[in-house]
Amino acid sequence: MVKTTVSVIKADVGSYPGHSRTHPKLLEVAARMLKEAEGSTIIDSYVTHCGDDLELIMTHTKGEDNEEIHELAWNIFMECANVAKEMKLYGAGQDLLADAFSGNVKGMGPGVAEMEFEERGSDPVLVFMADKTEPGAWNYYLYKMFADPFSTSGLVIDPSMHQGFVFEVHDVMEKRKILFNTPEESYSLLAYIGAPSRYVIKYVWKKDGTIAASTSTQRLNLMAGRYVGKDDPVMIVRAQGGLPAVGEVIDPFRTPILVAGWMRGSHHGPFMPVGVPDANCTQFDGPPRVICLGFQVSDRKLIGPVDMFDDPAFNRVRDRCCELADVLRAHGPFEPHRLSLEEMEYTTLPGVEKQFKDRWEDLPE
Ligand code: 13P
Ligand code: 13P
Ligand code: MG
Ligand code: MG
Repeated sequence: MVKTTVSVIKADVGSYPGHSRTHPKLLEVAARMLKEAEGSTIIDSYVTHCGDDLELIMTHTKGEDNEEIHELAWNIFMECANVAKEMKLYGAGQDLLADAFSGNVKGMGPGVAEMEFEERGSDPVLVFMADKTEPGAWNYYLYKMFADPFSTSGLVIDPSMHQGFVFEVHDVMEKRKILFNTPEESYSLLAYIGAPSRYVIKYVWKKDGTIAASTSTQRLNLMAGRYVGKDDPVMIVRAQGGLPAVGEVIDPFRTPILVAGWMRGSHHGPFMPVGVPDANCTQFDGPPRVICLGFQVSDRKLIGPVDMFDDPAFNRVRDRCCELADVLRAHGPFEPHRLSLEEMEYTTLPGVEKQFKDRWEDLPE
């Protein structure tokens, strides 16, 4: 049986005004180039944006980390960056850290989440895309979906979910990985993923090996060694049939949590779920936001999308996010609105400290 691969590859290649949103011209160019590749390199595609991040959603049969697929995405981003440069859009080419493609876009700036699976009788797939935050932002939600029985009722009442799930966690600082089984190792898993700037959930599987979730873990500033914006991650989640139901996958987003990113990639802010028409970062370049497109994958075609957070049921979490935004903004330049000093190392703050390094005097013993 030929397997289906869903690839979501994204980059910020320029936006307007400032870091608000991707220009429609870039969306057009990307959609056209993907359409031209349909029937040869890929099978189906969909293009959207979350804030200033251009999102390419593709289906094909080539598996994860395929050179042709990654090269197609890279060429699209390069072309869009050229269009952005012609319009002098802000941060044109921002996330493209290399000059030429070399086999795989990972490590070159774009964010990548991919998932290969045998299509079931019916296969609901949800694609989450965020702006103004980092990959660890998914940790809380993935735990709620796949390991919290107070959130996902299927963990309790569906016998096919009772065995629990396996989480692959990456340490993005030390470049190492580890597997945790839930429910038996839930507390150990939480000990790590509660520190989302360093420990990031990459995959979730059923214990029989069925893939359930896949995220992008690329940390731009760690790759570039300087501030180049936030990573603005993506995530693919499969639902139903022994996995959480679609509603169980999106329900955790009703809780407003604080994530790192927002203005200058240097502030904590509430993670706001919005419909695609609201996926433009304005207030203090934010607040950080997330969109979700729902598809049925059918013979590698994308049936959809449905704009999952375009729903009045999510109005209240949006209001609560605005209240939290007020509380945090009132802190001005103070922590915990501003990120901790450790995380500020990957921003422009070290440049300020450099100016004063010779003015500091030792205190007497
Ligand atoms: P599944 O059997 O596909 O998980 O369906 C259950 C359901 O739809 C609950 O909402
Ligand atoms: P992006 O990471 O979305 O480009 O935003 C960077 C920034 O500095 C926002 O204020
Ligand atoms: Mg930007
Ligand atoms: Mg962005």
